[in-house]
Amino acid sequence: MLSVVPLPVIVRAPSKVNLHLGVGDLREDGYHELTSVFQALSLSDDVRFADADQLSVTVRGDDARAVPTDRRNLVWRAAELLAERAGRAPGVAITITKGIPVAGGMAGGSADAAAALVGLNELWQLGLGRAELSEIGARLGSDVPFSLHGSTALGTGRGERLLPVLARDTYHWVLALAKGGLSTPTVFRELDRLRAEGSPPRLGDAQELMHALASGDPHALAPLLGNDLQPAALSLAPALRRTLRAGTDAGALAGIVSGSGPTCAFLCADAEAAVAVGAELAGAGVCRTVRIAHGPVPGARIIDHETEH
Ligand code: C5P
Repeated sequence: MLSVVPLPVIVRAPSKVNLHLGVGDLREDGYHELTSVFQALSLSDDVRFADADQLSVTVRGDDARAVPTDRRNLVWRAAELLAERAGRAPGVAITITKGIPVAGGMAGGSADAAAALVGLNELWQLGLGRAELSEIGARLGSDVPFSLHGSTALGTGRGERLLPVLARDTYHWVLALAKGGLSTPTVFRELDRLRAEGSPPRLGDAQELMHALASGDPHALAPLLGNDLQPAALSLAPALRRTLRAGTDAGALAGIVSGSGPTCAFLCADAEAAVAVGAELAGAGVCRTVRIAHGPVPGARIIDHETEH
């Protein structure tokens, strides 16, 4: 009998920055109640899925050595979950080309998991809808539904319940990547500790920020960016204060720690300003490397073979 081997599928999945990350109290299940305005950025991972006898994961690109290639990798678990759902063996060779910093606070692991859901849905012709993929994604990690959704969105609950947010125009960002990573659970625990000791200021609601996003003016958005995890990330990695200062000194409109850090994200007035800020930051010796990105961009999506990183 003639068996047809499906062609490999390549999926591009975006990173994210939290424009507003309000962290509420610790819940009984160990998670914090969040109010998060996410924006998906052009800095992305490409993930290739090819038919194979066995499940395997290979990682290439920046930081590849820091990424596990076994069951600890979310793509592995995504493949197992989808295979179980489809009643088939999880035979697939997965190759991740990293562009998103590892343990950087930019949802790199979640991006790969989202890519796996989209890619395997296609490779295995499962016909699952976006809502079903998102529900499976939420079981893998709080940020996975957003990595599927992309654009700009308001997340509540663990961050997994999403509503689209209108963001006019494109925003230009410079990202300062740090030498090491920070573990997300450790940063949340540090925030709990700081809160038990005193009361680091908490963000208000995100209404004003959402109005600024609808206006499309980065100058209006800049002073409203905020992250409740920032004091915790700075407490664990004090050198980031210098990085943040260097970015605004270089001409960025504002700088924040991205999610749980340690990547710092700088909002710039336009594409030209981002190039200038990026060049100055790269020379300032306050980070490992610098990337320029824009957002919003779409969530995890299939791309042509020619456009793969
Ligand atoms: O959902 P995910 O596995 O990505 O979360 C990683 C960790 O981040 C959790 O185990 C928890 O420590 C912390 N977290 C949290 N509250 C959230 C999301 C994540 O405390 N809403």
